Amino acid sequence: MKRLLATVLMATVGMSPAWAQKFDKLAMTPQMGWNSWNKFACNIDEKLIRETADAMVKLGLKDAGYQYINIDDCWHGARDANGEMHPDPQRFPSGIKALADYVHARGLKLGIYSDVGNTTCGHRPGSRGHEYQDARTYAAWGIDYIKYDWCDSKGLNAVGAYQTMSDAIRATNRPMLLSICEWGDNKPWEWAADIGHSWRTTGDIYPCWDCEMNHGSWSALGIMRILDKQAGLRKYSGPGHWNDMDMLEVGMGMTEIEDRAHFSIWAMMNSPLILGNDLRSMPESVRKIIGNREVIAINQDPLGVQALRFYNQGTVELWAKPLANDEWAFMILNRGEAPLAYRYDWKQHGISDDLRKRELDLKKATYQWQDAWSGKRGDTGMPLQVTVPAHGVVLLRLKK
Ligand code: GLA
Repeated sequence: MKRLLATVLMATVGMSPAWAQKFDKLAMTPQMGWNSWNKFACNIDEKLIRETADAMVKLGLKDAGYQYINIDDCWHGARDANGEMHPDPQRFPSGIKALADYVHARGLKLGIYSDVGNTTCGHRPGSRGHEYQDARTYAAWGIDYIKYDWCDSKGLNAVGAYQTMSDAIRATNRPMLLSICEWGDNKPWEWAADIGHSWRTTGDIYPCWDCEMNHGSWSALGIMRILDKQAGLRKYSGPGHWNDMDMLEVGMGMTEIEDRAHFSIWAMMNSPLILGNDLRSMPESVRKIIGNREVIAINQDPLGVQALRFYNQGTVELWAKPLANDEWAFMILNRGEAPLAYRYDWKQHGISDDLRKRELDLKKATYQWQDAWSGKRGDTGMPLQVTVPAHGVVLLRLKK
């Protein structure tokens, strides 16, 4: 009775109950957008954010599905006497609310960054002890997305720290997507599905195929290193709660073939597609990769099932992703240093996804396929004969 009364009271005054959960219905497909960190690090200001929003619309990326413009670390100024957070007055003189209005006027959404600790990774003020206050501030500014980092977290319990920010967001009544950036240290896939909408599974990405960039106490990881760390995680991914393989490095120094493979893999794995390059100046070849609607559709498929690796031998891997309407995506990955001439007789190999109880039986049914990069078509009645470039993929969509 007491609880019923409390619920009625809270409904009346519009507050959220203490046992509230995260906002659902957000990120029903992996979130798509742009983030300032990979290219600009701390060198950001309101002009960059406005120009990026303009570029997103002008280049057709908004129409392709990209929605969020996310300000990462270093937007901060200082807290005032009441503990209220303010943006850096030199870099964001118009304030974040004005920026949110600008971004919203273009049909996009604005994201911001904070941290569980007293200080962020870039040594700016974090949200520790100010979680409810900061969430209220972000809501008042019109923020739609919060990336919440894990620096300066010594002694903190990860579940508690992220639950606190999740509750703080819920209490504002503004739907804000919570992007958990805990680097996989405390296995967020095991506890974060009801707390946030995605969780980083690894440390930071680095734009290389298979390297590790040593930063002393931690290493940034190339594309293959991140992919290998996803083993065993597929069962945790689904609508509203995604494994996040970190922001994209397309257009950041890898070859065109590697960039295509990187984008294809992130699509197959249902990772959020958060661009990390300078949208205001990019070669047409990069725009074509990040704007490839066939690949994006694989990532945004409403079934929301992460790809399954069903074969791996030496430098060759075969991946399949069940899609809605009994369709499938199929990817051949060549991790090696030489082009791979590959023949695949569809009829010899069934693909079975035990976890999602899906079966692709190509002895019984013939599927039409289309190559997501070349547009080439064929069907599974004939063996597939392709050349997969070194550090590249062939990505097909199969339908009946
Ligand atoms: C951490 C995160 C990065 C980025 C930086 C900002 O390293 O993992 O994605 O947000 O902090 O300082």
